[in-house]
Amino acid sequence: MRLRSLSWEQYQELDAEAKAPYLMDNGRPQHVLIPQQFRRAELDNLCALATEIRRTAKIRAGADFLGNVLSHKRAMLYFTQPSTRTFLSHQAACLILGLKTGEVRDTATSSEIKGESREDSVRTFSSYFDLIIMRSKERGLAERMAWVLSQSERPIPIINAGSGHDQHPTQAVLDIYTLQRSFETRGGIDGKRIVFVGDLARGRTVRSLATLLTNYKDVSIGFVAPDSFQIGPDIIELLRSRGVRFDVSADFEAALPDADAVYMTRVQDEWDTETGQSARVDVSKFHLRPDDLKRMKPTAVIMHPLPRREEIPESIDRDPRAMYWRQMRNGMWVRTALIAQIFNVDEDIRSYFRQHVRGY
Ligand code: NCD
Repeated sequence: MRLRSLSWEQYQELDAEAKAPYLMDNGRPQHVLIPQQFRRAELDNLCALATEIRRTAKIRAGADFLGNVLSHKRAMLYFTQPSTRTFLSHQAACLILGLKTGEVRDTATSSEIKGESREDSVRTFSSYFDLIIMRSKERGLAERMAWVLSQSERPIPIINAGSGHDQHPTQAVLDIYTLQRSFETRGGIDGKRIVFVGDLARGRTVRSLATLLTNYKDVSIGFVAPDSFQIGPDIIELLRSRGVRFDVSADFEAALPDADAVYMTRVQDEWDTETGQSARVDVSKFHLRPDDLKRMKPTAVIMHPLPRREEIPESIDRDPRAMYWRQMRNGMWVRTALIAQIFNVDEDIRSYFRQHVRGY
């Protein structure tokens, strides 16, 4: 099914699940826009590919092979919202596959300051580049741009690297990869309990990961936050409709002992509508303290999309359950896998892996 064949109004009327066939082709993403486009089979496939890329890249000949796979392609990083990890890991993913990159990080340096619309800016990028990776504070902008390009003569792929406070699909996929690697020898993600903590109302990583977790069997989810930062009703509705067990509470200590993963987040005060709104919410009870580690399972993992503030002190970094630095690095491998699938070179990589790397 082709995005091109729909009007913008028709596309917008589809619910997220119904959009999937327009964004996927034979299990491969055409664009990466929303977490709902990935189901269990696609996630398993993506995680396997990320691992094969990771192992291939560690060998000199493998790295050289990967570095030529997309050396004829160029990617544009269009990040008008602050970013360290998401920007750099996408850039590193492009480097691994040999794509050349260009960037706009500040619209004050582009013609948007002269009044050019974002639609025209993105169409301009598509004239010079073969992929756009974009982050914006505007909800749904990546989807809108993918549709705009679908109507043009150069309908190039778009990766949503965070849009508004609702979606962050590539982060959700890397979080799934991190969970899967962490539970590899213990039956994978099925049957595990994931506890989200902090600003769940405005944390797009939480919303996107909770959506992806509905693809796993017998998962249970805890949302632990002060009332005004609790998870949105749309996610609650989604979990209900998919029959996923979940609970909502403000008791952090009580949530720790049975968690298999504790997913910490910072206060997202850049979304405050009035100054200091967040400052009036006491989040200190939702910080992980060294003493809390005793309450956690020895096999549990601590995750955080980063950047962090006070919610995880640096002293916890040394605990073997602290997974956030590895989680961040996993992002590079997963994003490399996504780009490989978008350009349909994943089978070449898998076949190189089978011939030259497996068993090495
Ligand atoms: C997150 C984001 O920007 O949504 N960071 C990230 O991409 N790793 C979370 C955050 O900024 O708190």
